[in-house]
Amino acid sequence: MKLLRMDSSARHKSVSRQLTEAFVTAWKIQCPDGEILERDVAASVIPPISDEWVVAARTPPGKCTPAEREALSLSDQLIEELETADVILIGAPMYNFTISAPLKAWIDQIVRLGKTVEYGPQGRKGLLQGKKVVVLTSRGGTYPDGSSQTKLDYQASYLRVILDFIGLTDVTFIHAENQLRPDQAEVLRNEAIWKINEFVLTWMAIGEQTVQ
Ligand SMILES: Cc1cc2nc3c(=O)[nH]c(=O)nc-3n(C[C@H](O)[C@H](O)[C@H](O)COP(=O)(O)O)c2cc1C
Repeated sequence: MKLLRMDSSARHKSVSRQLTEAFVTAWKIQCPDGEILERDVAASVIPPISDEWVVAARTPPGKCTPAEREALSLSDQLIEELETADVILIGAPMYNFTISAPLKAWIDQIVRLGKTVEYGPQGRKGLLQGKKVVVLTSRGGTYPDGSSQTKLDYQASYLRVILDFIGLTDVTFIHAENQLRPDQAEVLRNEAIWKINEFVLTWMAIGEQTVQ
C-alpha cells in the first residue's frame, strides 16, 4: 500500500507537521512494507498556474507545443503522485480561515480537465476514485459544528468540496484546535494524536480489505 504524505505549513516545527508525523509513525507500525512518498508543498515552491498552463491544459496532449508541455510537467508529476497513492495524507494549517497558499497552489496544479476531472453526458466525474484521504488540520481557534464559528471554516469546507470534485469522496478530518490558546493547545494536540492512532489502527484493520 502506498501513502502520499503532504505537508503545507510555513513553519518547520508546526502542529500540522507533528500530526502528519504521528500518522506516519503509526502507519509504519501497521504497514511495515508500505511505501511512503513525501511531498512538502511549502518547502519546494509550487508555482501558480500561468496563462501557458491554462492554454496547455485545454489543448489535446498531442497538439501541445514543447513550451506548453513544459508548463504542465509539474502538474503531470503531482497528478501521478496522486494516481499511484492508495492513501493521501494532508497536513493543513488554517491561515486566515482557509488553507495555506502553497496547498492552494498544489490544488490548482492537480485539478485538471481530462486528468482528474471530466465532463460527459452524465455530467461531471471525478477521476481519482477508490482512494482514502485523511486531512489533519491545525487551527488557532475552534470551529465546532452548529456554532457561530462554523461558517468561518473555509478550510475543511473548501477541502471537502475540491477533493470531492476530483473523485476523492472518502475523506476523514482530524482537527487540532485552539492551538493559539496556551491553556488548551497541548491537551487538544495530544487528543488529535490519540485520534490519529485510533484511526490508523481501526482503518488499517478494515481498510486493507477495500484498498487493494
Ligand atoms: C498567517 C496566519 C494566519 C492564521 N489564521 C488563522 C485563522 O484564520 N484562524 C485560526 O483559527 N487560526 C489561525 N492561525 C493560527 C494557526 O492556524 C495555528 O497556529 C496552527 O497551528 C497553524 O498550523 P501549523 O502549526 O501547522 O503551522 C493563523 C496563523 C498564521 C501564522
